[in-house]
Amino acid sequence: SWTTGNVIEEQVTAIRELVGDRRAICGLSGGVDSAVAAALVQKAIGSQLTCVYVDHGLMRKGETEQVEKDFVAATGVQLKVVDAEDRFLTALKGVSDPEEKRKIIGREFIRVFEQAQAEIIADEGPAVEFLVQGTLYPDVVESGGGTGTANIKSHHNVGGLPEDLEFKLIEPLRKLFKDEVRMVGQELGLPEEIVQRQPFPGPGLGIRIVGEVTKERLDLLREADAIAREELTAAGLDRDIWQCPVVLLADVRSVGVQGDGRTYGHPIVLRPVSSEDAMTADWSRLPYDVLGRISTRITNEVRDVNRVVLDVTSKPPGTIEWE
Ligand code: XMP
Repeated sequence: SWTTGNVIEEQVTAIRELVGDRRAICGLSGGVDSAVAAALVQKAIGSQLTCVYVDHGLMRKGETEQVEKDFVAATGVQLKVVDAEDRFLTALKGVSDPEEKRKIIGREFIRVFEQAQAEIIADEGPAVEFLVQGTLYPDVVESGGGTGTANIKSHHNVGGLPEDLEFKLIEPLRKLFKDEVRMVGQELGLPEEIVQRQPFPGPGLGIRIVGEVTKERLDLLREADAIAREELTAAGLDRDIWQCPVVLLADVRSVGVQGDGRTYGHPIVLRPVSSEDAMTADWSRLPYDVLGRISTRITNEVRDVNRVVLDVTSKPPGTIEWE
């Protein structure tokens, strides 16, 4: 019968047998799937696994620390963190178009990840032949079966490496659904914040700032987002909503008043949605007192924000994210 214990034991045995004395790498995103996949493989082959985490500077408050400290403490995984914030911010300078932002973030991400990968491969030690991916059952079905290898083109000249490296894939979550992955993660002792994390887009807060992405705006949005998450958690609403993007309308200003003075600040949008699979969604009917608390705290505590608005659009016609 299906138990998380059986799944873990089965996978650990299979991965050990497959990898032997060779090495594997795994990219961590901060999300549930890659974290659980990495933890499983770590349990099987220990220090023969190296994880890579690209810090693009677009994560929410505390998320990078969760990976760097809590995940490492819980698993003992060998982790290479690349601080690429400056690089991403430089590449995003002056860009407001959503699609262009996505392209730039995706491109930079691959470059940074491949560089880190090349450095790991160049280290002394057995061959790195395996790439760990957090593919779930729904992903397998969607892509019509999937493959067993990945071609990673290396654009970087690292002495003696072939131009094209072929990795064999390890996908220990291929038979699991999301809720099962969370259970396995919990059994493996991963932090609650990672195991129960709601969906968060790869391009991060970069697509939750309407307008140019700057360090100052990211810090502001991080504060507002942290307050919204804190209040939703305190109200016990995390399981009721699918996710709640918090968006900064950086190109919009409106007049406000504080003390004796007039302010001219930016609005923050709350976008709480309920959904089954993110293909369609409805706006969540959150209690007014919770919305009120979030609004009061954000306008009091976040500099330059003098208004909080609620997005009451379903999907379709609105997407969940604003960009
Ligand atoms: P939309 O905005 O299309 O979002 O209704 C549907 C779901 O996908 C997430 N999302 C992304 N996830 N990379 C991701 O990994 C992305 O570029 C991306 N864009 C949107 C979004 O948060 C929602 O859960």
